[in-house]
Amino acid sequence: MSEPNELTHPLTCHLRADGTPLDLAAYRACDGYQGLAAANQLEPSAIVAMVKASNLRGRGGAGFPTGMKWSVLPMGPDAPKPKYIAVNADEMEPGTFKDRLLMEQNPHLLLEGIAICARAVEAETAYIFLRGEYTLCATRLRHAIAEANAAQALGNVHVYLHTSAGRYMCGEETGMLNALEGKRANPRTKPPYPGISGLWGKPTVVNNVETLCNVPAILRHGAEWYQKLSRTTDGGTKIYGVSGRVKRPGLWELPMGTTVGEILDLAGGMQDGLKLRGLLPGGASTAVLTPDHLDVAMDFSAPQKVGSRMGTGTMIILDDRACLVGVVANLIDFFSRESCGWCTPCWSGLGWASRLLDAMEAGKGQPGDIEKLEHLASFWGPGATFCALAPGAADPLRSCIQHFRQDFEDHIREHRCPHEGWDA
Ligand SMILES: Cc1cc2nc3c(=O)[nH]c(=O)nc-3n(C[C@H](O)[C@H](O)[C@H](O)COP(=O)(O)O)c2cc1C
Repeated sequence: MSEPNELTHPLTCHLRADGTPLDLAAYRACDGYQGLAAANQLEPSAIVAMVKASNLRGRGGAGFPTGMKWSVLPMGPDAPKPKYIAVNADEMEPGTFKDRLLMEQNPHLLLEGIAICARAVEAETAYIFLRGEYTLCATRLRHAIAEANAAQALGNVHVYLHTSAGRYMCGEETGMLNALEGKRANPRTKPPYPGISGLWGKPTVVNNVETLCNVPAILRHGAEWYQKLSRTTDGGTKIYGVSGRVKRPGLWELPMGTTVGEILDLAGGMQDGLKLRGLLPGGASTAVLTPDHLDVAMDFSAPQKVGSRMGTGTMIILDDRACLVGVVANLIDFFSRESCGWCTPCWSGLGWASRLLDAMEAGKGQPGDIEKLEHLASFWGPGATFCALAPGAADPLRSCIQHFRQDFEDHIREHRCPHEGWDA
C-alpha cells in the first residue's frame, strides 16, 4: 500500500498521530481552503457538474449521488430564499464512529466542504446537527468556526452548530429538519424532498459529514482523479471501520471497494482463540454477512448482491462466542426504543419483536416464535413505513435468522441460552 498522502488519502493524510486538531494555520499550510478558492473561480453549475462527474455518493448510509442531490435545488434570481445546508453529524448508528474522527481532528475540512456546497447551491446558512454526546467535536468545531469567521474564510455562508437532544431518529434527514425547527423529530412524507422543501419549507441540502469532507479535494484535484481513487464505479476513498473482538479495532481510509477481508486484516484479524462468525458490514442496520463473504467489495453495489449494504462502512464483528439471539435482541431493543412512533409497523412491531427476542434469550421461547419474528419483519420493508428505521431493523433480524437459524432453534428447544456465561 502507498504511503498516505494528499493524492491517495485526501480525508486523513494530514491527521496527527496524537489526535490534536489542525487549526486554521495548520490547515492552510497543507493547502486548506484551496478547494474553496478553486470553487470561487467556477459558476455554481460547474461545481455541481464536477461533483456529479466525480461519482461521489453520500456517506451517511443510503449512498445517494451527491452532485445529483445538489442539482435539484432551484437556482437563479427567482429561486426561493433563503436556502440552507443541514450537515448530518448525528452519528447515532451503533457501530459507527467515522464522522467523529473527521470533526475532532480536522474540523476545517468539513467547514471548507460546507462553504463549497454553499457556493454550488447558493445557500446562505448552514447548520451542523451534531450528536449531543460528541462534546469534543462541539468544542473543536466551535473553535474552528470562530477562526474561520475571524479570517473571513467561508465566503457568504453562516455556519451554526446545533447539538442534538439525542435520538437516533434525529439522524433521519427529515426528522433532523423537524428537530432543527424545534419540533419533534418525526420523519416527513417525501416528496417533497428537502432539495425543494426542507428547513422552514425552503430548499435544503442534507449531507453527511464524510460526504462534505470529500468535496475540497475534488475541487483541487478534479473529478477524474477522484473517480480513479476508487476500485469501482463509486468514486473516491472511504473511511472504513472495525469494532468487535479484533486485535486492532479502528478506522482506515482506503480505496472505495476494498474487500471485507482486507479491512479485517488491517484490524489485525480476530483476537487470539476466537473465530469470525459473522459481521454487520456497515453498522447495526445492515444485514449480517458470514465468513463466506470476505471477498465482497465494500461499495454501494457488491454487498447488495449478497443481500446486505455497505451502510456507513463501519463493520461490527461477531465472533464464535457471540450469541446471535442476544445480539439481535439487543439491536431490536435499540431500534424499538428509538422508534418515533409515527408508523404502526415500526412502533408496535418492533416492540413486539423485542419482547419475543428477550423472552427467547431468557429461555422462554415457544415453537413458532421464529416464524412470528419473520412475519413481523415482513411489515418493515421499504415503502411500508415513513422512513428507513424499521427497514434498517429488519435487515439484521431477517439475515441472522437466515444464516444462524440454529441459534434461535437451540434457544427454544433447550429453554435457555446455550451460550449462557459467555460475555457476549
Ligand atoms: C433512523 C435513521 C438514522 C440516520 N442517521 C444518520 C446519521 O446519523 N448521519 C447521517 O449522515 N445519515 C443518517 N441517516 C441517513 C440520512 O437520512 C440521509 O440519508 C443522509 O444524511 C444523507 O446524506 P448523504 O447523502 O451525504 O449520505 C439516517 C437514516 C435513518 C433512517
